[in-house]
Amino acid sequence: MDVYEAVQSRQSIRAFTDRPVPRDVLDRVLTAAVRTPSGGNLQPWHIYVLTGDRLAELKKRIAERVAAGDSGDEPEFAFYPPRLASPYRERLAEMGARRYGALGIAYDDTEARARVRAENWNCFGASTALFCYLDRNMPAPQWADAGMYLQTVMLLLRSEGLHSCTQIAWAEYHRTVDEVISPPAERMLFCGMSMGFPHPAATHLCLPRASLAETVTFLE
Ligand SMILES: Cc1cc2nc3c(=O)[nH]c(=O)nc-3n(C[C@H](O)[C@H](O)[C@H](O)COP(=O)(O)O)c2cc1C
Repeated sequence: MDVYEAVQSRQSIRAFTDRPVPRDVLDRVLTAAVRTPSGGNLQPWHIYVLTGDRLAELKKRIAERVAAGDSGDEPEFAFYPPRLASPYRERLAEMGARRYGALGIAYDDTEARARVRAENWNCFGASTALFCYLDRNMPAPQWADAGMYLQTVMLLLRSEGLHSCTQIAWAEYHRTVDEVISPPAERMLFCGMSMGFPHPAATHLCLPRASLAETVTFLE
C-alpha cells in the first residue's frame, strides 16, 4: 500500500472484532513509528500499549464509573476552545450528525448518544489500544509532534491492513487510565487509540473535508 492509499483508506473505525493486533505487527508498526519527526528531535511522546488483562481492567473500571453516572475527571486541558467559532462549530456539528445519523440516532436523543459514546471506553470492541502521554510542561509544538506520531502509527496500521480510532475520550477519565498505567507523575494523558480488525458490521463513515481552497492558500 502506498502512502496515498494509506491516507485515503484511513478512517476512524468504531467497531472492532476482539482479535488482538498480533505482537509482531505491533512491533513492526511501533518500531517504524519511532522515525516520526519532532521539533528538536525531542520525541516527546510516551506510549503505553495495553492488551489482555490490563486493558480489560481499564475497560471494566471506566465502565463502572460510567454506569454509576460519573461523568469524568476534572480535565487537565481543554478539548476545544471555550467558544468554537465558525467554521469549526459547523464542522463539529456535521461530524456528530453524520456519526449518530449513520446509526439511526436522532440528534436530540441524548441517552442513545451517551450509550454510543460510552463505546469509546470499551475500545469499540478492540483488544489492543495505545495511550499517548506527554510531560505536563510541554507546550503546543510538542503536542503537534505527538499528533504526527499518532498519524504515523495510523498510516502504518493501514499498511498492515488494520484500522484504528484515536480517542481523546480517554482523557475524560484520565485518573482511571493513570491508575491502570501508573506513569511517572510528570506525565499527562493526551489520548488513546483503539486498533485492530474492523467488525463486519462496522460503519465506514467517509467524513467530508473542507475544500483545498478553504484550508490552503497559495501565495506566488
Ligand atoms: C486527537 C483526536 C482525538 C479524537 N478523539 C475521538 C474520540 O474521543 N472518539 C471518537 O470516536 N473519535 C475521536 N477522534 C476521531 C475524529 O472524530 C475523526 O478523526 C474525525 O471525525 C475525522 O474522521 P475520520 O478519522 O474517519 O476521517 C479523534 C481524532 C483525533 C485526531
